[in-house]
Amino acid sequence: MRKVVLLGTGSTKYGKLNVTAREAAVLAAKEAIEKVGISNRDVEAVFVSNVFGMTEKQGHLGPIIAHSLGIPYAPTFTVETACASGSTAFREAFVNIAAGFYDCILVVGTEKVSHLDTITATTYFSYGSDFAFEAVNGASFPGLYASIARYHMHKYGTTEEQLAAVAVKNHSNAIHNPKAHFHKKITVEDVLKSRVVASPLKLYDCCPFSDGASAAIIASEEFAKKHIDTLIYVLGTGRASAPAALFNRENMASIISSKLAAEQAFKNSRLTHKDIDFMEVHDCFTIAEVIAIEDMGFCKKGEGAKLAEEGVTEIDGKLPVNPSGGLKAKGHPVGATGVGQINEVYEQLLGEAGKRQVEGATTALTHNVGATGGTCNVLIFRRGD
Ligand SMILES: CC(C)(COP(=O)(O)OP(=O)(O)OC[C@H]1O[C@@H](n2cnc3c(N)ncnc32)[C@H](O)[C@@H]1OP(=O)(O)O)[C@@H](O)C(=O)NCCC(=O)NCCS
Repeated sequence: MRKVVLLGTGSTKYGKLNVTAREAAVLAAKEAIEKVGISNRDVEAVFVSNVFGMTEKQGHLGPIIAHSLGIPYAPTFTVETACASGSTAFREAFVNIAAGFYDCILVVGTEKVSHLDTITATTYFSYGSDFAFEAVNGASFPGLYASIARYHMHKYGTTEEQLAAVAVKNHSNAIHNPKAHFHKKITVEDVLKSRVVASPLKLYDCCPFSDGASAAIIASEEFAKKHIDTLIYVLGTGRASAPAALFNRENMASIISSKLAAEQAFKNSRLTHKDIDFMEVHDCFTIAEVIAIEDMGFCKKGEGAKLAEEGVTEIDGKLPVNPSGGLKAKGHPVGATGVGQINEVYEQLLGEAGKRQVEGATTALTHNVGATGGTCNVLIFRRGD
């Protein structure tokens, strides 16, 4: 396997955008290509992640984006694995570079949902669950994650205040992220008093519906050395599935695909938990950040909820989690999210994250979940010396 390098990234702002998914994708891709200083024609293949293109009456986005970038004959591959689509596209691009099929690939994730009202968007999103057993019986994603939260509270004594601390931290981090959906400081009291969406989850426990696009360029080490000075290596990748429906799980407060993907990523990176300076995890709801940290083995099962409350996961804490603001406050444009996490890693490892910089970070992990864990991808990155 060849060594694979993250060459550069680009992103639109996340939030309600006045552009289509295809336009957002082109903006993010152009930013990445310009930042790296390569020509569009250096891009040999384009991997696109997108979930709800059909709501804009546009499927098959790959060739359309490639054409807009002036490389209409580059092969494209459009991926859908629900909210994990971005990291799945990145992982499959990684495999192609590592195997020697291409030297330089553009990965771009994009989503547009702000043209849908909340009920319509919630219905479309629910198609990512086990529709025949869950959505058809009225279970939306807030409802499914509320069930996970209730079970975690029942089994481990987790409190609503502890979940609120996750939202407070992530909103606070997003204030320093110019591309975040929300720039609004909140308190634990604000979270507890916000309206109930699906008990025990309230407005501020939930990620928003966001538009946005993020891009990443990855390349072989040989190609990278010709174009950039500081190399960020993709050292570990893990990908796993799990039963999509919650009722098929042994422990409803656990996402087994997170555990399996993390084990693979640690194994092939030859790193351990202690090597990780910070991580971007899939906090679509506050409880999701808690179980991600637990399932990947950063603490014992049932002990994740106290980490935000005790400041462990703050930017200057022992284990910074979601310095970008996470899905909760940076936003969650589904197809873009996994690539957006990689944007944060790139800026942090180059020391370009401004006021949200994790001091001295050289090694980072991203964790991106599809639906309630039907898919999970974990990636580990390390800056070369
Ligand atoms: C939480 C949720 C129900 C709120 O939707 P809504 O009640 O229709 O809210 P609106 O869009 O009308 O927004 C009302 C206000 O709340 C704010 N808001 C909306 N969602 C928010 C969120 N998740 N967090 C914080 N503020 C939010 C809006 O910015 C708006 O603020 P303003 O009045 O200052 O402009 C919706 O965002 C949601 O379902 N999120 C989860 C999405 C999801 O399931 N993703 C997949 C995960 S697997």
